[in-house]
Amino acid sequence: MKLSEFWPSSLFEDKTVFVTGGGSGINLGIARSFAALGARVGICGRTAEKLEAAAGELEALGADVTIAVADVRDFDALAAAFEKTREELGPIDCLVCGAAGNFLSPAEALSPNGFKSVVDIDLLGSFNSARAAFDHLRETKGSIIFISAGQAFTPYYGQVHAGAAKAGIDNLMRNLALEWGRFGIRSNSIAPGPIEGTEGFRRLAPASVADQLKASIPIGRFGSVEDIGQAAVFLASPMASFITGSLLVVDGGQNLPGSGVYSQVIMKAMSTK
Ligand code: COA
Repeated sequence: MKLSEFWPSSLFEDKTVFVTGGGSGINLGIARSFAALGARVGICGRTAEKLEAAAGELEALGADVTIAVADVRDFDALAAAFEKTREELGPIDCLVCGAAGNFLSPAEALSPNGFKSVVDIDLLGSFNSARAAFDHLRETKGSIIFISAGQAFTPYYGQVHAGAAKAGIDNLMRNLALEWGRFGIRSNSIAPGPIEGTEGFRRLAPASVADQLKASIPIGRFGSVEDIGQAAVFLASPMASFITGSLLVVDGGQNLPGSGVYSQVIMKAMSTK
């Protein structure tokens, strides 16, 4: 689907969008959606090679791109990445807090450091990003999009760490909507369902059970990175200028009946490993 058939191709002209974890997966898909609609794009991540390859893709869509190696757990590295972006592309108009880490682990097998690592990347990383971007967003009256998950509001087997982190992110999102509205800053979350072709999908939907998981999704298919990119474009656009403090669930209805099917299928797959 060509986004510019549905949205004006100049929608984000003269706007700068920064996507943490933008080197791959859902986050790169989001970056591509903005690039296709005229945005300048900054991305950060932990691996220079991934970022360079992603920058090539975004530039091929016509975007000016800044890349920065920065781990979202490191506030100073993020602040430096945002300043580099300001120098090269201008202040950030939209921040997408996408960097995340996840794996399947039953709670009783998870070490405190395993739990902490995911909470640090997802939750602390999201706060660090929003906090480090505050001066930019105040200047541009910009918006923040957090990447949440169904695990934030439904318990999933093997996801105690990610569930706690994502629930925290949604609470952070609402607090920032409340506190930063007065600066003209909007704050919202997207909760993607299973998105095919991503690292998260490979980790959370093993091939051996993918068909069973797909059958449990009311809309009858897995999502694509474009599904999430379109939601992000909408939330960042002037069409959403009165929307703040909202969680947009983009999951084909996966979470409507709860996580029963997923949890049973995954529990069985893990116990037969
Ligand atoms: N099951 C259980 N525990 C695990 C695990 C797994 N599959 N993978 C890592 N851990 C534990 C480690 O054992 C370690 O705990 P310990 O010190 O008690 O042994 C802790 O998590 C940290 O692991 P480490 O590899 O040092 O952390 P990291 O900061 O380098 O990596 C992760 C963070 C663990 C989240 C890693 O999976 C990652 O980098 N993920 C990024 C990509 C990703 O997950 N994408 C999908 C997002 S949806």
